[in-house]
Amino acid sequence: MSETVNRAWTMASRPEGEPAAENFALVESPVPVAIHGEVLIRTLYLSLDPYMRGRMRGGPSYAATLEPGDMMIGEVVARIEQSESTLYKVGDIVRSSIGWQEWAAVPAHDVRPVNPDLGPISTGVGVLGMPGMTAYFGLLEVLKPRAGDTLVVSAASGAVGAVVGQIGKINGCFVIGVAGSDEKCAYLIDELGFDGSINYKTQDVSAELVRLSPSGVNVYFDNVGGPITDAVMENLAFKGRIAICGQISQYNAATPQMGPRNFSVMTRMRARIEGFLVYDFELQHEIARVRISNWIKDGRIKYKEDIVDGFDNAPSAFAGLFRGDNFGKLLVKVSDE
Ligand SMILES: NC(=O)c1ccc[n+]([C@@H]2O[C@H](COP(=O)([O-])OP(=O)(O)OC[C@H]3O[C@@H](n4cnc5c(N)ncnc54)[C@H](OP(=O)(O)O)[C@@H]3O)[C@@H](O)[C@H]2O)c1
Repeated sequence: MSETVNRAWTMASRPEGEPAAENFALVESPVPVAIHGEVLIRTLYLSLDPYMRGRMRGGPSYAATLEPGDMMIGEVVARIEQSESTLYKVGDIVRSSIGWQEWAAVPAHDVRPVNPDLGPISTGVGVLGMPGMTAYFGLLEVLKPRAGDTLVVSAASGAVGAVVGQIGKINGCFVIGVAGSDEKCAYLIDELGFDGSINYKTQDVSAELVRLSPSGVNVYFDNVGGPITDAVMENLAFKGRIAICGQISQYNAATPQMGPRNFSVMTRMRARIEGFLVYDFELQHEIARVRISNWIKDGRIKYKEDIVDGFDNAPSAFAGLFRGDNFGKLLVKVSDE
């Protein structure tokens, strides 16, 4: 190992609105050495995910928030470069929540193996990782769609949404994806086999839902909140179900926006809303990982990765999540496989 310098991105200040360059600082330290029971890992891919924005905000959250000067949190796919544990050997590929940094020495029980037989190693934090698990359990365990149901998913071309829609198709749903460009909308239909798509930036979401599914929306997988969710709620079918996965349209807001206020539809349609976290289903993740891998091998699930080259570019790539710059699962390539 010739490298001696480890680089890490910290949160320099809390963002106001969209994260900007001045909210991040690059700090250097010596590459650590693993001691007894630890492994030294080198980051290959850093996963960038919307939830990180929530950690940059002060105030209540389901997890600890960052303070200025703290390293940005996040999960990476990494290679073991030194092992002082019997659990792993040099060269093994793992994933670990070490944050935005190039190297880390961590207890061996803080890393998880990435099985290259299931798919390319980058998918360990994508379709076969946290976003894939979110899609699988949010759809199959929270929404529990039935064949013939109309399923609507927002942020549909993204890491979670694209998997939701495709598992919906496997389960016999009529799938409508909502996304932010014509290119993304065409991809949903032409590549992923969705039945309909709506560009929320140029089309009237409510009117398009009526056109595409006149009998209403049975299940809605909500990744974004805001006006898109208001429009879906207006079109809920009898006994409609909504899973609140994320509310990305609200993450940069200084104060939470009001709404939705059209809850009378919930009474009229005897509908339900339920929030969930991917970790609620952690004990079952391994089963889902193998099932999704098999669907990929069968050609029933396709996935798209948006890989930004270079650790230096992590902050700007992250900010792009909130503008829809990413097309597929957003990763930063930190070093060569
Ligand atoms: N509950 C859980 O355990 C859990 C786990 C993972 C993720 N999540 C949530 O799932 C959602 C999707 O995450 P992901 O990793 O799959 O991200 P992603 O969809 O790959 O990327 C985010 C996408 O959100 C869309 N977006 C950004 N701002 C928007 C706005 N104001 N209105 C509408 N769409 C907007 C953009 O796509 P367009 O171009 O289409 O606008 C952007 O590409 C996020 O809300 C995230 O927090 C929840």
